[in-house]
Amino acid sequence: MCGIIGILGTDDVAERLVEGLRRLEYRGYDSAGVATVHDGRIERQRAEGKLNNLARKLGQEHLPGHSGIAHTRWATHGAPTEDNAHPHIIGDVVLVHNGIIENFKPLRDELLAEGRTFNSQTDTEVVGHLVAREVERGASPEAAVKAVLPRLHGAFALAIMFKSDPDLIIGARLGAPLVVGYGEGENYLGSDAIALAPLTQRIAYLDEGDWAMVRRAGVQIFDKDNNPVERPITLSGITGALIDKGNHRHFMQKEIYEQPVVVAQTLSSYLRTLEARVALPDMEFDLGSVERVAIVACGTASYVGAIGKYWIEQLARVPVEVDVASEFRYREPVLGPNTLGLVISQSGETADTLAALRHMKACGVTTAGIINVPTSSMAREVDLLLPTHAGPEIGVASTKAFTCQLAVMAALSANLARAKGRLEAAEEARLVRHLTEVPAAMNAALSHDAEIEGMAHTIAGARDVLYLGRGPDYPLALEGALKLKEISYIHAEGYAAGEMKHGPIALIDESVPVIVIAPSGPLFEKTVSNMQEVQARGGKVVLISDAEGLAQAGEGALATIEMPKVHPLIAPLVYAVPVQLLAYHVAVAKGTDVDQPRNLAKSVTVE
Ligand code: G6P
Repeated sequence: MCGIIGILGTDDVAERLVEGLRRLEYRGYDSAGVATVHDGRIERQRAEGKLNNLARKLGQEHLPGHSGIAHTRWATHGAPTEDNAHPHIIGDVVLVHNGIIENFKPLRDELLAEGRTFNSQTDTEVVGHLVAREVERGASPEAAVKAVLPRLHGAFALAIMFKSDPDLIIGARLGAPLVVGYGEGENYLGSDAIALAPLTQRIAYLDEGDWAMVRRAGVQIFDKDNNPVERPITLSGITGALIDKGNHRHFMQKEIYEQPVVVAQTLSSYLRTLEARVALPDMEFDLGSVERVAIVACGTASYVGAIGKYWIEQLARVPVEVDVASEFRYREPVLGPNTLGLVISQSGETADTLAALRHMKACGVTTAGIINVPTSSMAREVDLLLPTHAGPEIGVASTKAFTCQLAVMAALSANLARAKGRLEAAEEARLVRHLTEVPAAMNAALSHDAEIEGMAHTIAGARDVLYLGRGPDYPLALEGALKLKEISYIHAEGYAAGEMKHGPIALIDESVPVIVIAPSGPLFEKTVSNMQEVQARGGKVVLISDAEGLAQAGEGALATIEMPKVHPLIAPLVYAVPVQLLAYHVAVAKGTDVDQPRNLAKSVTVE
């Protein structure tokens, strides 16, 4: 799973390729590489690790060539070494690949049996050999690729160049995204429109199974049966400027601080404050007919789904099930005719979620998607797009996308409740009022940043951390643990506070900090009882609550974080802030790479 870009330019392309890769680093950053076809030769530069290592190499040694392809990698087959870095050169062919070739082993065995040798452990090199073999047998580049594509199983987006033809890049996609960009005397290929934004706004999205012959003078696109097809050219409208960190040390910090603004932006497109109503975009189906909701997502987005289950069931009395997308299809879910399938995704490209969406559609289920990237595959494929307006999220650990997704989930829950006849106008007006209070409450939560930074050093020394919550704050506890794990590498677990006594309490001693998320309200006392069970065993508690809750139960805690008093519905949005800040400051105290933690990628486009 990786990012790819190709340029057929009118001057040297290496620098522009690297600029494109910068926008694709969210797809992986284990290694990066660039290759050009120049003067009858294939030139290449690759480097292990972050893109800056490649940029440094290219700064020392210019890579000439007006035609090139480039790649940023998230390792699947083979360690993140330079040998495994793309582009891979096989004879006269050079290629980059995003995805996984699932049948690479038998293909590799076939090629090995013919005496072909491999220079990497990647599945990609197998594709290169298959194409090179066709070329060696006399096939044109077009014929070679056409012969090889049907042999590949799995998911791929490919960009392939040939030493013999510096005016050609062949692209192909199946299960991984690939777009064609149209320029002035130049043409491009890329994993997404964002990568191509500084080069062109004119984008055509390739369909599943499409492949394309990209030349400077024009682009020919073929479908999976090799019929020539036209794919509409759309204007991406994506800014060419790279997003910067502003005054912040990390993107994650900047994105945590942006939340009051982007949540307000998101809410403003779902709330009709004057009419005191919640409104969704126009849709072609009747929400009132929904009898069940199946929510599917991965990672942080899946916890939005888990919180949504509480909200939808409480407000609309419609049963909800939530699955992590990698499990969904394989458990053969029962999807009835009046089920609404709901996917949640920041990127709109996560392979597991996309596959689940397609499965739901194939089962005839009406689908909706809470999605941040409006040009993404999921955004284009859902029946009802419920956009979040978080803006580009760069930090790998999701923060502002999470709270914007929650804002949309709250609006959806209220709409569904109204459509089911379960939300009186007065109650709806109250919900709207509570939701409009969220940005200010988030600002109040942010004002505790310095205190949270102060306690981060204590947590940074821990080996294990537990997070506890009840009701909708239980999935928030799971999210808190995920945030801490992914950026500080400290082992953390989230638990339903009441479940502690059924096992995890055995872990408690004075070395295990326990973060308790407990807004005052109907579940407060029960959560506090569970917290006291921890304290009775020497556990060190950090209690996150409002003034009322802290006055009641703050005594004896290692630390407390005071939140504004909010309605239980919006508590997860507001309490997300200290949870994110805590993970952030612990990671900074530990000196980890906050924005690009090891082994992770922002958008995981392999299953
Ligand atoms: C990756 C990221 C997570 C993210 C998950 C789902 O694992 O590291 O931060 O929550 O993918 O991503 P999506 O783009 O579908 O929301």
